[in-house]
Amino acid sequence: MDLSTMEHFRGKDFVSLKDFRGEHLKQILDVAVSLKAMNHGAIPHTHVLRGKVLAMIFSKSSTRTRVSFETGMWQLGGLGQFLSSSDLQLGRGETIADTAKVLSRYVDGIMIRTFDHSDVEALAEHAEIPVINGLTDLLHPCQVLADFLTIREHKGTTEGLNIVYLGDGNNMAHSLMFGGARFGSHITICSPKEYLPSETMLNQARALAAEEEGTEVSLETDPAAAVKNADIVYTDVWASMGQDQEREARHGAFKPYQVNAELMQYAKEDACVMHCLPAHRGEEISADVLDGPQAIVFDQAENRLHAQKAVMAVVMR
Ligand code: CP
Ligand code: NVA
Repeated sequence: MDLSTMEHFRGKDFVSLKDFRGEHLKQILDVAVSLKAMNHGAIPHTHVLRGKVLAMIFSKSSTRTRVSFETGMWQLGGLGQFLSSSDLQLGRGETIADTAKVLSRYVDGIMIRTFDHSDVEALAEHAEIPVINGLTDLLHPCQVLADFLTIREHKGTTEGLNIVYLGDGNNMAHSLMFGGARFGSHITICSPKEYLPSETMLNQARALAAEEEGTEVSLETDPAAAVKNADIVYTDVWASMGQDQEREARHGAFKPYQVNAELMQYAKEDACVMHCLPAHRGEEISADVLDGPQAIVFDQAENRLHAQKAVMAVVMR
């Protein structure tokens, strides 16, 4: 792992996959592979972020994001500092801009999970240190970076694959569209017509796909037609964080989009099943499929650690 060839990442924000060219995202995955090998080898960790601190602001719940970032910083020789937004003055009305300026005087990077994507953009604009998007209502780039590492491990490549996402046209759908375009995979989003991805995100993803050449971003409403020839079948919760009160109402619309054994018969025989987790067995995915041999969901969860360590190593070094 030679980070001296990665100077172009230093100080950059990691807010959306659209901000990075495909070849650069693949370089981050290569760093992730090296870091992952170190975690399993004789030399357990590399302290490339010795003495550095990542402030981690959370306005929403988290298991994977919190634990993987905090553990990742420790393994790189630094410190991850958990900050609940309700405990910060941010929760009492201090502005994002002032928060960004203050944190820039203390720490070396900020990871934020929040609702409004424009808050992350504002934080990145006003901070003098890298800002990493740990999920917004619009995007979840760290998850999708880890997902493409997982896909590469299981399929040997990310190029030319058919990735089909079933369910809500949400933050996961948007980041998968960007990731597909950047990593050379075809993406089909299959959602009920009331829950399609944002038109703006769709247009941006299609523009990226044209830039990277050869990949397609498609929409489909029929689940069986969508998963035909799928290499990857991906799903996510029907009601995201902040939409809990809509959960019952959404069930009716999403029921035909459940990933289950019957639907998987239409996909390729060696198709993998992915889910960013947390999952609701019996809703967006049946228990037998989530716990079955085609599911690679815990590899995805593990790869959050390795992929995010790679991001932090290249932007915060
Ligand atoms: N997938 C994911 O981001 O999980 P958490 O909500 O537990 O962080
Ligand atoms: N779409 C989900 C993803 C959770 C990781 C949410 O935003 O709650």
